[in-house]
Amino acid sequence: MSPLIAFEGPEGAGKTTQLARLDRRLSAMGQRVLSLAEPGGTELGEAVRSLLLGGGGQTSPVAELLLFGASRAELVAQRILPALAAGELVLLDRFTLSSRAYQGGGRGIPQIWLEQLEFWVAGGLRPDLTLLLDLPPEQGLARAARRQPLDRMEGQGLQFHARVARVYREAAAGDASVVLLDAAQPQEVVAERIWEQVTSRFQLP
Ligand SMILES: Nc1ncnc2c1ncn2[C@@H]1O[C@H](COP(=O)(O)OP(=O)(O)OP(=O)(O)O)[C@@H](O)[C@H]1O
Ligand SMILES: [Mg+2]
Repeated sequence: MSPLIAFEGPEGAGKTTQLARLDRRLSAMGQRVLSLAEPGGTELGEAVRSLLLGGGGQTSPVAELLLFGASRAELVAQRILPALAAGELVLLDRFTLSSRAYQGGGRGIPQIWLEQLEFWVAGGLRPDLTLLLDLPPEQGLARAARRQPLDRMEGQGLQFHARVARVYREAAAGDASVVLLDAAQPQEVVAERIWEQVTSRFQLP
């Protein structure tokens, strides 16, 4: 199967920007690429996106976890697995590590529950490479705040985001498929580091 690459990191770290750049560069060299963002990418996923990120209302942590999980299960079944089987390289704007960071670190759901849920939701599918864009929460929130209004996660406060950042860094420390990149550098520099990782790890056209 072709490679599955996830972009992870806090609000405003540059995931969407860097994913689009990588998609363009890979596509230009003839690689077939499918780019997807969570939550979303399916009819159910888009409904979950507007439910979870749209309003300012309260959702219990477990309900939030299961809604993100439902969106991801649909994305895996309907979009990711068929694309990989057809030889497309898949780029994901957030995946399972976001649940560990936000619902685990941020909301305090035990990591063991998240690991079990990952298995049901993604059936053991894991990214071949996770590009973790690391940025201090204050800087990320300041970048994201330029795109007013803040969504429900962005509005959670600095302590929440510091817990999210901690889980992300721990994940990078314990797993060779997770690469930590300094997202405070200029966009072009981050893009070059990403390109080095991708071209050194995968056979491309
Ligand atoms: N390396 C960088 N240096 C400075 N600004 C950047 C850099 N990368 C991205 N930005 C800017 O920061 C803002 C957030 O970037 P982007 O939307 O790509 O982040 P994101 O990680 O997708 O955020 P979110 O989690 O909110 O979706 C954008 O205005 C973008 O142009
Ligand atoms: Mg984004």
